[in-house]
Amino acid sequence: MTTTARTAASDVKDLSLAAEGRRRTEWAERSMPVLRLLRERFTRERPLAGRRLSACLHVTTETANLAVTLQAGGADVALCGSNPLSTQDDVAAHLVKDHGIKVFAIKGEDHATYYEHIRAALAHRPDITMDDGADLVGALHMIALNRLDDLAPPVRRWVETLSGADRKALVAGVAGSTEETTTGVIRLKAMARDGVLQFPVIAVNDSDTKHLFDNRYGTGQSTLDGILRATNLLVAGSTVVVAGYGWCGRGFALRARGAGANVIVTEIDPLKALEAQMDGYRVLPMAEAARVGDVFVTLTGNTHVLRVEHMRAMKDGAVLANSGHFNVEIDLDGLKQAAQGPTRVREFVDEWRLGGKRVFVLADGRLINLAAAEGHPASVMDMSFANQALAAEHVVRHARELTKDVHRIPRELDAEIARLKLAAMGVAIDTLTPEQQKYLASWEMGT
Ligand SMILES: NC(=O)c1ccc[n+]([C@@H]2O[C@H](COP(=O)([O-])OP(=O)(O)OC[C@H]3O[C@@H](n4cnc5c(N)ncnc54)[C@H](O)[C@@H]3O)[C@@H](O)[C@H]2O)c1
Repeated sequence: MTTTARTAASDVKDLSLAAEGRRRTEWAERSMPVLRLLRERFTRERPLAGRRLSACLHVTTETANLAVTLQAGGADVALCGSNPLSTQDDVAAHLVKDHGIKVFAIKGEDHATYYEHIRAALAHRPDITMDDGADLVGALHMIALNRLDDLAPPVRRWVETLSGADRKALVAGVAGSTEETTTGVIRLKAMARDGVLQFPVIAVNDSDTKHLFDNRYGTGQSTLDGILRATNLLVAGSTVVVAGYGWCGRGFALRARGAGANVIVTEIDPLKALEAQMDGYRVLPMAEAARVGDVFVTLTGNTHVLRVEHMRAMKDGAVLANSGHFNVEIDLDGLKQAAQGPTRVREFVDEWRLGGKRVFVLADGRLINLAAAEGHPASVMDMSFANQALAAEHVVRHARELTKDVHRIPRELDAEIARLKLAAMGVAIDTLTPEQQKYLASWEMGT
């Protein structure tokens, strides 16, 4: 790729974009007061001094603020993208040019380049890894388990050049990892259950100050933003079908309703379905929702939630988008076989012709909020990335006691992030009086 600025220490699109990346990163920083406070402390205390940290995250302005915070804490940071479409090229350039951070990420990179960048992050020989979707940790585990055939070719070819001792040292060198998203945590818990997890992992997603805000309000707003930027459709009066009523689905359903849509929820979990029903949404099986929806959005973390049988039942012109982590929620392979297309009708919008009707798939079924918009607003990423920075510090401080399992950061740290966020927002709350403390701790008092 001739347009890229590739050196041994980085591979980004164009270093001349750095100034714009810096301006946008500084704009995000204004809404990240908790991370700023942490950066100040990290600069003084250097808790990550001498550590090599490889992060596989969406390369956005918020991630840039995290990377700089980790660097301020003393870490030698390498960063690769966690999705081929989510990199902001100006931000990647800014991190390389202004901070000397090793970045391997280009928006729109092909599958081989994506994995070449994962390889580069592994070749950094990290003491700590940071993941969003467990691609880095997944590769490390295939190496540990000697399942080289399961590695993507760029990683496999590199691993084959390493001696057995070198491969062992690569995995054994990792003191611990952190994981950002639901899908990654599910994968890691499965590894722990199967007894194959090689090092402790902190599930950042499990912090209350992460999923209650990032997944719900961040995904809610930015998913709508991505769909609107890609299509400029009118939401008011349209019927939006939300697949999955977990944290992300709840947030998106709320925002779609707020913009005037009639919202239908599909679920497989009776409790979540009941919650959606009582929250005032219509709950239907996808086979029925398919006939009435105008816009369909998957937020389940599951595979093939929207299948060809559903697409055949849809109205002419239905729009399909995904905001779950991987691009497997819409069955695009099935669509490719059954339909004619794609025709690119607008950036991020592909038209497919299926049985005399058209369906429009946004952003190749990849995370619409990161592909067509800018991902979550900085204010929610402030809390998610405060969790990430504290999780990295926790791994360093407690590597010896942490078992090879999936942990959450201590609840006191989670509560501290909420306290700092409230303070930054200028919101004061009450404290328990001594009488109330006693009352809540007692069991003798009754009616
Ligand atoms: N777009 C983003 O920026 C972003 C941000 C955070 C999380 N995520 C990803 O979004 C996905 C959802 O995350 P979450 O935190 O909401 O998870 P969650 O576990 O809270 O919710 C997922 C919901 O989907 C439901 N579901 C599963 N299979 C389904 C099916 N076939 N049909 C209908 N519903 C089904 C589950 O019952 C559950 O209620 C994950 O892949 C996560 O990694 C994306």
